[in-house]
Order: sequence, then C-alpha cells, then structure tokens
Amino acid sequence: MTTTSTPTTTAITHISQLVTNDPSLGEGPLGLIQDAAVVIDGDRIAWVGASSKAPATDNAVDAGGRAGIPGFVDSHSHLVFAGDRTAEFNARMSGRPYSAGGIRTTVAATRAATDEALHANVARYLAEALRQGTTTQETKSGYGLTVEDEARALRIAAEHTDEVTFLGAHIVSPDYADDPAGYVDLVTGPMLDACAPHARWVDVFCEKGAFDGDQARAVLTAGKARGLVPRVHANQLGHGPGVQLAVEVGAASADHCTHLGQADIDALAHSDTVATLLPGAEFSTRAQWPDARPLLDAGATVALSTDCNPGSSFTSSMGFCIALAVRDMGMTPDEAVWSATAGGARALRRTDVGRIAPGARADLALLDAPSHVHLAYRPGVPLVSAVWHKGVRV
Ligand code: NIG
Ligand code: FE
Repeated sequence: MTTTSTPTTTAITHISQLVTNDPSLGEGPLGLIQDAAVVIDGDRIAWVGASSKAPATDNAVDAGGRAGIPGFVDSHSHLVFAGDRTAEFNARMSGRPYSAGGIRTTVAATRAATDEALHANVARYLAEALRQGTTTQETKSGYGLTVEDEARALRIAAEHTDEVTFLGAHIVSPDYADDPAGYVDLVTGPMLDACAPHARWVDVFCEKGAFDGDQARAVLTAGKARGLVPRVHANQLGHGPGVQLAVEVGAASADHCTHLGQADIDALAHSDTVATLLPGAEFSTRAQWPDARPLLDAGATVALSTDCNPGSSFTSSMGFCIALAVRDMGMTPDEAVWSATAGGARALRRTDVGRIAPGARADLALLDAPSHVHLAYRPGVPLVSAVWHKGVRV
C-alpha cells in the first residue's frame, strides 16, 4: 500500500500589492511587489514574484486584487488571565487615572480560575488575533505571582505559543506587600527555578509602584543566568531607569517607551534593543502617546504590539494599533506596517516570520483593500479577509 500525500504547493496570485519586508525582492524598505504571487510549499514560502511569472503549483488561489502583508508579529501581550476590568475602565473614562494597582484585581481572579478556564481564555484571544492577521503571538505570565501560579501560567501559555515570557516581577505580590525585597528574592530564586524551563524570555515591570532599577536588574540578571533573554516594561508611566537598564542587560526589547529623554533615545538607537510601542495602552488609559518620530529619526528599531491585557489595553487588533501609530505617534503607514510585522520579529529575535520571502514561514494575510496603507486609512474596518498560518489557510 502506498500512503496518500496531500498537495503541498499553493500559489496565491494577483495580489494587487505585496509587502514582503525584503528590499531585495521589491521596491523600497517594504520590498513592495505589484501584481504579485506567493508560492507556499508545506509550511514555508517557496517563491515570491510577479504574478505573470508564478510557477505551476498543485493549488491556486486568486487574490482578486487584494493586498498582501506578512502575518502580524505581536511581540507583547498578557493573555493568561481570568475575569476582566470593565469597572476600572469605566472609572478611568470618568477621570480616574490608570495605576499598576489594578493588576491585583486580575491576580485574584486568575489564581481562582481553573486550568481549563485559563486555557480557554488563551485559546479564545489567540483565535481572535489570528482572525485579524496575527500569526505570531508572544504572551506572558504575571497574574499569578506565586511559584505555583506563575509556573501554571507559563505551562498553559506554552501549550499555545512558543513565545512565552516569565513576568513574575509584574508587581510585588499582595502576599509580600510589607516585604518587597522578600518578593524579589522569591522571584529570583524558587520562582525562576520553577518557571525558567517553560519560558524563553524574562520580563519585569520597571516603574514606580512596581520594581525600581536595582530590583529589576536583579530579576533580569537572574533570568539570564537561567538562560532566559530579557525584555523590559520600561518608561510607561513616567521617566525612569527601564530603558537604560534594558540596553545595559542586552534586552531584546524595551516596551512602552512612552516617556523618553534624549539619553534613552540615544541608548536605544545605538543598541540591538528594539523599542516596542504599545498604543493600545495609551488609548485605553488616556495617557500621552509615545512619539515614534525621534526614535526612528535616531535610527532605533521600532516595533508595534497590542499589549493585549484586561487592564491597560484590551485589544488584540494590530490593525487598530497601526492606525493609532499613524494618527497619533508620528509614523507613516509604511513604517507602522513594517513595525507591526518585521519590527515585531526583530523584538522576538526571529528571522523566520515578519517577512514574505523564500524560506520564511508561510504566514500571510490578504486585505480587502488595494494596499497596506488602508490599514491606517480605514481605521476600525475588518480588512483582513484571509490568513495563512504555517502554510495552512485558517
Ligand atoms: O503592559 N504595565 C504593566 N503591565 C500591563 C498592564 C497590566 C494590567 O493593568 O493588568 C501593561 O500595560
Ligand atoms: Fe504589558
């Protein structure tokens, strides 16, 4: 008996304009190709070029003049949680400011939730993001804050994505309210021992009301000693040491970057640390926008992500973040689309995603629009009309 094999190659043709993010394949930094085709072989991109030159394949899909982009790479989210914070959001929209203290509400709900409930929540928000074109999703712990609850969150996250971040140092656990140093000892010792095997990254919320520079350095250094790569919640609520610390420890990314001085911008521009901007957080907390322009002009690499979480940014939409970044953060549509795809890949130190080129993972989205610019031009409109993830149309 022979085994049956399924067709493996698919050509997607007549893509009105394709963002490849590979300047060697097309025009400008986005490597744009007009009337393009993409050939998928298994879970990889096999060929990219003009539709008229597409090779013969087992299957063909006519994009019908829709635009194509790499699947979004959302490098920052907090999806392992239970409950929501509608009341807090309502109060904020009546004038109360955002504070890190609200995280405790979600910690209590998350500790009380079953594994099944947490799994279902993660699956639900990942599916929601995938429908909107996100094909790589990082996610964090940080709503458990005990050894067992943090390890549980990471185990659950790891069943859904490879990009898992340990954020035991989200806030000082309420159980250690009178002993923050004791909590840092717990995080850098037994908690990391239990959590490091389930994560790729270590993160810390370096901010007034969370962890100061020395505490954050201790967490990141301990994480590195166990093989994790740092990333930092930095300079979200005010000027602080987070960005400088991120650069000092060689973090993959400094996230938020809302309050930056010139020294922060210079440090980012002269490092491999990506500045990840999270406009959903400023939108949902009515805070000042981060300014991408000085970062880009100084030569820093900028990523855009959702920060999807129930407190400060309850959106899974990268398209929405692109629109905000263009409208309010000084980015051009081309820059914002690059940052939401290739920029996110840089923040996760990935070369297989965030671009459409031979050898890359076959992750792409078609837009009901003639070009990627419409993501900013038509805010709030669900333009993503087809998504391929690892070569499979979802
Ligand atoms: O990235 N800044 C810290 N952590 C999250 C907010 C978490 C929450 O409010 O639940 C953030 O915005
Ligand atoms: Fe966050």
